[in-house]
Amino acid sequence: MNNTKSLIIYFSRADENYFGGEIKFINKGNTEVVAEYIKELTGADMFKVEPLVKYSEKYMICIDQAKQRIKTHNAPIKGKVPDISKYEVIYIGAPIYWGKMPEELFTALQNLNFEGKIVKPFVTHEGSGISQVPQQLQKLCIGAKISDGFEILGSKVDGSKSKVKNWV
Ligand SMILES: Cc1cc2nc3c(=O)[nH]c(=O)nc-3n(C[C@H](O)[C@H](O)[C@H](O)COP(=O)(O)O)c2cc1C
Repeated sequence: MNNTKSLIIYFSRADENYFGGEIKFINKGNTEVVAEYIKELTGADMFKVEPLVKYSEKYMICIDQAKQRIKTHNAPIKGKVPDISKYEVIYIGAPIYWGKMPEELFTALQNLNFEGKIVKPFVTHEGSGISQVPQQLQKLCIGAKISDGFEILGSKVDGSKSKVKNWV
């Protein structure tokens, strides 16, 4: 359990996705479900990273867009991440895209001052586990301590609050 001095920064996409072995339309992203559990359990503030150019609702188009954005490192976002100086703990949530975080999270996190912060990564995926995310965050969040992450299959997030509770 944590105090109120924490912030959740996360990316999540609803719409069509590969979910439990088939392509399905879902109204709320999987990572968002976990982010909301963390907020409920800790009282943390929350910031959702939104792409400036929305990904396609169609899964097959979205995966190409994601690959392209990762390759070109071109993923502008809407708005600005809140000032992180007042937070001790920063939860960072990502779906796994091609074994990595979506490029928009790089855009959001670069140039923030992570010195002395505790970063707690959480990811949802469809089989790749936490992948390279801790290593990516280690490089990106200079001066932060990257804690053990939480990973869960996107298709298993509903009803996972007690697992999240054991981790926060
Ligand atoms: C563009 C794209 C790429 C993906 N790449 C992977 C992957 O490499 N490994 C994996 O396990 N799941 C992959 N997935 C599945 C997502 O990580 C998984 O569905 C996640 O829960 C989505 O989170 P969200 O609903 O919060 O966006 C991918 C999904 C998309 C849309």
